[in-house]
Amino acid sequence: MTNENIPNLTGFDEAALEKAFASLEAQARESAAALDAEAFRLQWLGRKQGLLNEVSDRWLKAAPGPAKKAVGQRFKVLKELVEALLEGAGPSDAATDAALRAEAIDITLPGTRRPTGAEHPITRTLNEIVSVFAALGYSVGVGPEVETDYYNFECMNFPPGHPARDTQDTLVVAAQERKPLRDRLLLRTHTSPVQMRTMEQQPPPVRIVIPGKVHRNDAADATHSPIFHQVEGLCVDTNITFSDLKGTLDHAMKALFGSAVKTRFFPSFFPFTEPSADVQISCIFCGGKGCRKCKQSGWIELLGCGMVDPAVFAFAQEKQPAYDPKKISGFAFGMGVERIAMMKYGISEIGSFFAGDMRFLGQFA
Ligand code: DAH
Repeated sequence: MTNENIPNLTGFDEAALEKAFASLEAQARESAAALDAEAFRLQWLGRKQGLLNEVSDRWLKAAPGPAKKAVGQRFKVLKELVEALLEGAGPSDAATDAALRAEAIDITLPGTRRPTGAEHPITRTLNEIVSVFAALGYSVGVGPEVETDYYNFECMNFPPGHPARDTQDTLVVAAQERKPLRDRLLLRTHTSPVQMRTMEQQPPPVRIVIPGKVHRNDAADATHSPIFHQVEGLCVDTNITFSDLKGTLDHAMKALFGSAVKTRFFPSFFPFTEPSADVQISCIFCGGKGCRKCKQSGWIELLGCGMVDPAVFAFAQEKQPAYDPKKISGFAFGMGVERIAMMKYGISEIGSFFAGDMRFLGQFA
């Protein structure tokens, strides 16, 4: 076969291409059966005189823009066939075999593996925290991430202008100035507003945990991220006392970090609880002896909590009169999921959770 045997293309439509390439493929098979490997190689793949070069010049390069892709794809198939034929070239059935092999699927090769997905470490930690409380009979609730000023702040006893609002650098939705303050939208800075949403929906008793995403206008650093997660808890019933709060959280910390962990409660302030406390656990890295992680104190601060402030119940009473602070009482708590996950898994950069690096995430699979 010589270059003169390459037919002229009658057009670049599918039918013309199909015919032209089919004829070349047939010729390639014939040549491969008739020639020895080197002669076949020279004829088809030769640098100067090779038929494929010629086809490339006359068909592929000449193809008008829109037809380039179709010609290119067929050219690639032809080239693969020629290369496969070359392997088995020779005046024998070997060429036919090679051609068949080129087209066949080798079912003995391993298939394409789909990697199994795994829970993100934040999801996993969040579920773990929730299940500790679920085992105590708590139900699980959620609330909106875009929240009103009323739920995020006002009903949680942060009146307009209250200085405690400044501790939660808030991302607000733009162009809300014409609305009354209480209706203006913001990205919730904590999961506490879902306490009120829950109480408005149901009379006491309440035992609920609320996992969710929260947002603050914080500069990102090793331990701060403008997006993070919290688990909120609320328990309201008759005769709920601070001892119940202590017992519940002590149990939860032992369930999460191991039974050797101790807890202690430090006076603190949150507008929606009175009294309020910060919960510290004995350092899980040094067992309480003092190390770099606990700044030599032996204790690590982990969450906020307190007895629900009567002012919060007063807001709940607007929809559910049964939240009468003279008859019922309750406690609440809130914890940061990233902080707990970082401690449990020894992670030093909060940003690792959100960077989407599979080398990091794959370790939790
Ligand atoms: N909402 C608080 C914060 O984000 C955390 C918190 C503290 C929640 C005490 C509570 C609580 O329910 O009782 O900083």
